[in-house]
Amino acid sequence: MNACIVGFGCIGPVHAISIKHTDCATVYAICDINKKRADKGAEEYGAKAYYDYDECLNDENIDTVHICTPHYLHFEMVKKALEAGKRVVCEKPVTIKKEEFKILLENYDVSKIFPIIQNRTNACIVKMKELISSNDYGKLKGAKGLVTWHRDEGYYNSEDWRGKKETEGGGVLINQSVHTLDLMMLFCGKAKSVEATMKNYSLKGVIEVEDTVDAFIQYENGSTGIFYATNAYADNSSAQLEIEFENARLSYIDRKLFVNGECVCEDGDGFIGKNYWGKGHANTINDFYTGKSKLSLADIKNTMDAMFAIYESAESNKPVNL
Ligand SMILES: NC(=O)c1ccc[n+]([C@@H]2O[C@H](COP(=O)([O-])OP(=O)(O)OC[C@H]3O[C@@H](n4cnc5c(N)ncnc54)[C@H](O)[C@@H]3O)[C@@H](O)[C@H]2O)c1
Repeated sequence: MNACIVGFGCIGPVHAISIKHTDCATVYAICDINKKRADKGAEEYGAKAYYDYDECLNDENIDTVHICTPHYLHFEMVKKALEAGKRVVCEKPVTIKKEEFKILLENYDVSKIFPIIQNRTNACIVKMKELISSNDYGKLKGAKGLVTWHRDEGYYNSEDWRGKKETEGGGVLINQSVHTLDLMMLFCGKAKSVEATMKNYSLKGVIEVEDTVDAFIQYENGSTGIFYATNAYADNSSAQLEIEFENARLSYIDRKLFVNGECVCEDGDGFIGKNYWGKGHANTINDFYTGKSKLSLADIKNTMDAMFAIYESAESNKPVNL
């Protein structure tokens, strides 16, 4: 398969290394409106450089496009790629608006859209799924997701699209902590209602989006979720996930999985990029090209619905029923 990476800023190169790790795909082209970035990547991978997205979509040799551009561009880019007959690997968030997500779900072949939610492939998360399906832990009571990270003025000023509702779509929720929300949804299922608040504590005058969000989630199966995420912490500490059953507590912290306090799995080393991104890109992209993973847009519906509901509740100051 010939891949084209679109957007070669921070995460585009992680996709390129991940493709290099698979036997089934080649970095055939790199497209970036920043000519220097496209040329540098193309030289490193012996790939073609494109500076215009429409031009690369006209290249019949390209089978798959990897969308690694700013958030607000994803929706149009995904649509155009599908219309050009390509498969799409899309960085989160696939869309920044609820209506856009609905349009993709209802009008396009969702099996051709592979969303990057790489933490689902972390060894501890895979183990967690395995343990939950093979043990009788009793009734699912609830989940806790906690993300305490640090993003400063320098980070937000590094690229023009960051920190703005119009172009990033939100702050710590849609960008940094959606992975942890996704894991809560993976284990607890569909949300029934959401009540949330958000604030900008540490970056007033720098960003117009939230640096902190909290939510109380009621799931259809009767369990409840507590979610808290902030970019206002002093440093990046490990995200935490806890799944609470009648007879067991499964805790994922510091890349280790504990069942009732006993460590049963570790994610291990081997990170590409920043270690707080996790090491899932290589696994996820390999699973896509080998066909091991059939993940599609439909598989992130619960997460996207919850994310949009959290924003709606925080903005309206009211609970939102899904
Ligand atoms: N999954 C993860 O853990 C993870 C981690 C980091 C970033 N991301 C996601 O990856 C995406 C990109 O983030 P980033 O931090 O790499 O951003 P970035 O700003 O560093 O890079 C974006 C690149 O896209 C290019 N670009 C902009 N408009 C373009 C266009 N029309 N055509 C082609 N290229 C264009 C820019 O020149 C830039 O090089 C975002 O969706 C972000 O949320 C995901």
